[in-house]
Amino acid sequence: MFLAPPGEVLTALELLSRRGFEAYLVGGCVRDAVLGREPDDYDIATDAVPEEIKRVFSGYQTAEIGIRHGTLTVVMNGRPIELTSYRRDGVYSDGRHPDRVSFTKSLEEDLIRRDFTVNAMAWRPDGGLVDPSGGRNDCKNKLIRAVGEPGERFREDALRILRALRFAGQLGFEIERNTHQAMMREAAGLSRVSAERVAKELNRTLIGDFAANALRAYPEVLVLALPELKPLLRPEKTNDGIWEQTLIPLEGTPKDPALRWAALLLFCGKPQSTSGGPVPPADSQECSVTLAESILRRLRQPRMLTEQVITLIRHHEQRIDPANLRLWLSSLGPETAKKLLLLKRAGVSAKEPGDTRRIEQLDSLYMEAVRLLDEGLCLSVRDLQVKGDDLLAMGYQRNRRLGQALDELLRQVLTGELENRRDALLKAAESLLPID
Ligand code: CTP
Repeated sequence: MFLAPPGEVLTALELLSRRGFEAYLVGGCVRDAVLGREPDDYDIATDAVPEEIKRVFSGYQTAEIGIRHGTLTVVMNGRPIELTSYRRDGVYSDGRHPDRVSFTKSLEEDLIRRDFTVNAMAWRPDGGLVDPSGGRNDCKNKLIRAVGEPGERFREDALRILRALRFAGQLGFEIERNTHQAMMREAAGLSRVSAERVAKELNRTLIGDFAANALRAYPEVLVLALPELKPLLRPEKTNDGIWEQTLIPLEGTPKDPALRWAALLLFCGKPQSTSGGPVPPADSQECSVTLAESILRRLRQPRMLTEQVITLIRHHEQRIDPANLRLWLSSLGPETAKKLLLLKRAGVSAKEPGDTRRIEQLDSLYMEAVRLLDEGLCLSVRDLQVKGDDLLAMGYQRNRRLGQALDELLRQVLTGELENRRDALLKAAESLLPID
């Protein structure tokens, strides 16, 4: 294992130990180091209680948002570092926060209250790895295993059920059998978890390197959070294998939340739309759009993400005429349009991997789109080389017709009938001037 924390983190460990306190790196950063992955952030656990931590770091900027649970954030050289007193958690009546936190002097006690063995290891430069639950071994065997009695861990915080799925999607691990059984037994606890926390874990699951594998292996866990997708999991014979049709393109899309959500929800309305007999594909698509929107709203996902996902689902079957690429980029917006090309490509590669002609077409459309956008393609009325004021000076009135004229100028620029040059636009605007 190789762990080379940034200088500020080493300084924080050093400051605590100089004052006679024990301090270790814990949680995700130790897990990542054992796995040979680059840690995202570094969390420190210490036997100093919050008041003592505050005194040690009195010369630094601190944030006390988590202080009730024993966490103080210290900013060193602009880097926020979370320092948490060793805790021995009590009863969690809300399934999230312990009702009362009691501090302990024992690192081991702090480690065994944690969710999974792979997250229950600690390390410090001169103390080596502390691993009371066999986390290192589970890393080696690629196993997500709850620490101690699994049911207790999920009753303390039901979000851990989705965290297990997230780690499976992120790390490509299997969920150990007893842990999995306890997750399913304690599933009801998820109803007490806030939508935001659920959404955060699902987002991280979906952008994981092994997202499709995890969803293929544990769809029953996903539908605990997304019960709307249950009909997709019906036996192959009754649903044309929609789940697999969903996962293969998902695997082929880049790790972007909107793309992954769109891939996941692309066919979510299909079972509902076909339950009353065959329906035209367009209707099935609208059912997916409606259901996707209600799922993402229920999860309180940001509006931008929801809108992008819905646009991707609604347009994913659309044929794109290379001659109208500019118009199309303008109507969807450049970012969504590029994502749509990637989603379509993933769909074609999944459904018709032999159709190299279609895949090449989509690739060349994507490259052309990137080129046009790099060139600063005019995409909206705002990008035109004339403004409303120019048209007003020419005799236009401040009314609907002014907007219509600007839209028409944009359309002509996008179709290539007109160049986005001031003189050409002014001339065209004059010819559009209404004669009253
Ligand atoms: N933890 C826990 N139960 C939770 C959340 C967190 O036991 N519901 C513990 C785990 O030991 C975890 C640590 O707190 O490793 C830090 O949690 P977090 O900041 O959420 O990081 P991780 O999810 O573990 O990993 P990452 O660093 O990838 O965010």
